[in-house]
Amino acid sequence: MAVTDVDEAALLDAAGRAQAGAYAPYSGFRVGAAVLTADGRVFTGANVENAAYPATICAERVAVPSAVAAGARDLVALAVVGDGPGPCTPCGTCRQVLFEFAPDLLVVAAGSDGAVARYRLGAELLPDGFGPMRLTAR
Ligand code: THU
Repeated sequence: MAVTDVDEAALLDAAGRAQAGAYAPYSGFRVGAAVLTADGRVFTGANVENAAYPATICAERVAVPSAVAAGARDLVALAVVGDGPGPCTPCGTCRQVLFEFAPDLLVVAAGSDGAVARYRLGAELLPDGFGPMRLTAR
C-alpha cells in the first residue's frame, strides 16, 4: 500500500465513525482518527478525556498504538476528524508519536464544516523532528 493508493474519502469516513466513540465530557470536542497501514489495515481511535485533565489521550494516540500493538508499524496515512470548524491538525505530542513510525506520513485533517487539509508529517508538521535515527549512540 503506497501513499498514492490511499482512499482518502474512505479513511476520513473511518475517522468520522470513530469520532462517535469519543469520551470528551470536559472539552466537548470530539475527535476521531484512522490510520492506514502498509498492509492495508485500518486502526481507529477517539479522544478519551480524564478528570485529571493532563491524563487525556488524543484520538491519534489511541489509533497508532493500537496499530503498533497489532504488529503494524508501517503507517502510510492518517485521517483526523474534529468537532470544530477547520481541519483538526494533530497536537505536538501526537506529531512526535507519529514521527517515530512514519516521518513521511500523509496526514489528512478535517473539521465539522467539511474543510480538509493534507500534510506530510516530517516536511510540514514536524520539520527537523527528533526520531529514532538520531539515537546513534545506542
Ligand atoms: N484532541 C485530539 O484528540 N486530537 C487532536 O489532534 C487535537 C486535540 C483532543 C484532546 C482533547 O480531548 C480535545 O481534543 C480538546 O483538546
